[in-house]
Amino acid sequence: MRHVALILALCCGLVGCSSGSEQAVKTQPTGSVYQMMTHYLEPAADKIWGSAGFVITADGEVDLQPTTDDGWFAVEHAATVVAEGGNLLMLEGYAVDRDDWVEYAQGLSRAALKARTAAEQQDADLLFAAGGEVYSVCKACHNRYINEMAE
Ligand code: HEC
Repeated sequence: MRHVALILALCCGLVGCSSGSEQAVKTQPTGSVYQMMTHYLEPAADKIWGSAGFVITADGEVDLQPTTDDGWFAVEHAATVVAEGGNLLMLEGYAVDRDDWVEYAQGLSRAALKARTAAEQQDADLLFAAGGEVYSVCKACHNRYINEMAE
């Protein structure tokens, strides 16, 4: 009986809440788009790009893929940061418009989620491909918006 009462109380609370205040929760970007890019997205994207493919060094070809579970987890984390970054870019205060900007932001999340799946599966080839997709979304949005913002 106490459970029923509790459930009723919770339901009423929820109904009261949704009918009482319909405004969305106010969100506040923590800085400029430039800061969002350089402090948040870029370091995480670099972690993805730095964990896939090969580099040529004086000692020969070096495979960049992580060699430990912790190493792969760090890539999972970075990919999650970038994927959530797509959502953050749609916040009022970051979003320049509600058209192409949203397309690019969502595309970024989709590509980064592929990178996360690749890291979860510790699949170096998939991570390389997903990293390339992330890069092309960054690039496409910059091509579309950076000059416009500078005007
Ligand atoms: C939704 C559009 C959009 C996406 C997606 C996007 N950017 Fe940006 N980025 C911008 C805009 C607009 C600026 C210019 C900001 C300014 O100068 O005020 C910018 C600027 C930057 C800058 C600083 C300027 C420069 O070129 O040195 C960096 C670094 C950057 N972005 C990195 C990234 C990375 C890395 C990604 C992908 C992981 C990415 N951005 C994805 C819109 C985007």
